[in-house]
Amino acid sequence: MAEPARKKRLIVAVSGATGTVYAWQPLQVMAKLDDWETHLVLSNAAILTAKQELNVSQAEFEALADEVHDNKNIGAKIASGSFLVEGMVVVPCSMKSLSAIANGLSDNLIARAADVILKQRRKLIMLTRETPLNLIHLRNMTAATEAGAIIFPPVPAFYAGLESLDDMVAHTVGRLLDLFDVDHQGLVNRWPGLSVALKDQGKN
Ligand SMILES: Cc1cc2nc3c(=O)[nH]c(=O)nc-3n(C[C@H](O)[C@H](O)[C@H](O)COP(=O)(O)O)c2cc1C
Repeated sequence: MAEPARKKRLIVAVSGATGTVYAWQPLQVMAKLDDWETHLVLSNAAILTAKQELNVSQAEFEALADEVHDNKNIGAKIASGSFLVEGMVVVPCSMKSLSAIANGLSDNLIARAADVILKQRRKLIMLTRETPLNLIHLRNMTAATEAGAIIFPPVPAFYAGLESLDDMVAHTVGRLLDLFDVDHQGLVNRWPGLSVALKDQGKN
C-alpha cells in the first residue's frame, strides 16, 4: 500500500553544552517553512542552559517544534528505524552526548535516536562544543565520524565579513541548514571569491 506524501523531517536534539542559540535559531527558521517538520528533544541540561543563556523556558523552546519528544521516552517513534526522516542534528552537542553517541550508549532518546540515524545510514550532524579538547573528546569525534556522523563545531568564519556575534551565529546556522538543503533565506554570506571580497571590502 502506498504511504501518504509527507513533509521532510529533521530531528533537533539539544544537549547541555553552551550555545543553545544554535538550536533556537534553526527552529525559528524551520517553523516558517511548510515543507519541513521538526522533532525536538531537549536534555535536562539543555533546559538549564537555555534558561541561563537565552532566558527561554522549556515551553517556549518546545513551542517552535512541530513535535516534541521526552528525552526519557526511549519508546518514542524517532527511536525506531521505521521512522522516515532526513536526518538529525545535535545542537549544541555536549562532550557527554558525543561520548554516548560515539560509544552506542543509548540510554536516553537523544543517544538512541542518533544511534538509529547512524544504523539507518542517515545524516547525523553534531555541533560539538568544548574547548580545549582532551584525547577522550578527540577519540569520540573520530569514532563518531567513522560511524558516519559529521562533526560540525560552531567555529566563526572570520573571512566572511561578519560584523557581530549575531552575524556569526546566523552564518553558522545557515551552514548547518545548508547540509539539509533547507531554504534559510540568506543566512550565509556566501564567499564570492577573493578578488570580489577584497573589492567589496574596499581593500583592493
Ligand atoms: C552553563 C553550562 C554550560 C555548559 N557548557 C558545556 C559545553 O560547552 N560543553 C560540554 O561538553 N558541556 C558543557 N556543560 C556541561 C553539560 O551540561 C553536562 O556535561 C551535562 O551532563 C550534559 O548532558 P547532556 O549531554 O545530556 O545534555 C555546560 C553546563 C552548563 C550548566
